[in-house]
Amino acid sequence: MVVYSAPGKVILFGEHAVVYGKPAIALAVNRRIYCDISEGEDITTVNGREIDKEKQGYLSEVIEQTGVHHPLRINTDSELPSGAGMGSSAALTVSALGCLLNDKGDIEESKIAEEGFKVEYSVQGSASPIDTSTSTHGSAVMLSDRKLKDFLWNIEKGEKSWKVHHRDIPEIKLVIGYTGVHARTGPLVQKVRNFYEKSNFAQDIVDEIGEVVNLGSEALEENDLERVGELMNRNHKLLSILGISHPSLEALCQASRKYSYGAKLTGAGGGGSMIAITDEPSKVAEVIRMRGGTPYMLESTDEGLTQEK
Ligand code: PMV
Repeated sequence: MVVYSAPGKVILFGEHAVVYGKPAIALAVNRRIYCDISEGEDITTVNGREIDKEKQGYLSEVIEQTGVHHPLRINTDSELPSGAGMGSSAALTVSALGCLLNDKGDIEESKIAEEGFKVEYSVQGSASPIDTSTSTHGSAVMLSDRKLKDFLWNIEKGEKSWKVHHRDIPEIKLVIGYTGVHARTGPLVQKVRNFYEKSNFAQDIVDEIGEVVNLGSEALEENDLERVGELMNRNHKLLSILGISHPSLEALCQASRKYSYGAKLTGAGGGGSMIAITDEPSKVAEVIRMRGGTPYMLESTDEGLTQEK
């Protein structure tokens, strides 16, 4: 039996645009998924029931990709709500890959991140490596089309190539507001893709998100939270123009801004979650609750993929 855990993540800047090779920044957070895999008997089970390829697409794809042909007994335990923009599918994928690809406890991070990306890409039909790289590495991660300082690994797909970099964790207090509206990443990525492929305007918006991310990276390095917040608000507006905001996200972002440096949707959008950075997390949590959302006061974590036993 082997148990690995992997953290969820929040995207601070650059979701969706990162699918087209633009930069993005994400933080690993202190809520995790634990995955425990051992030899099964006649059939592969997940939490005691026969695996359902439709419903458990990520685990099924992990098994397929790692070429495991014998039955497995998989148990998972999650601290991450699913469909909430906190990267639960990546954390599940990465922790399961940790169990199946570890070599006597040794893990090659770049290999897990690469395989994890392939799994997400195949299940979602399109993806960037940001979630899986952040969940594997922990801390903060920046993706870019150019090599920057603290380069970790390169991930390629077709003509696209993402350079993945380590970033030190910025000292910020985060509040996530889950709208309660379940949103699936795949169809939202597809929605943006349709817009992007048909319209120069959408391509300009994606380019502009890329510029905001680079400015955000500078502001984070300078620890200039006012500027980080301003840029988050701008990133949110650009994402709304791409059509992936939702009335519930607008309500939570607007309410949170009163006590925050800035707020934006995080992850795929269409519902899911928003993120605010603030010096007054309890006040932000309260306004999120008042507007019908579920707040999570999260901390960032250094800890990426980890063997538990
Ligand atoms: O749904 P989430 O939180 O895993 O975020 C998806 C982020 C996107 O940029 C929309 C897609 C991707 O794979 O990068």
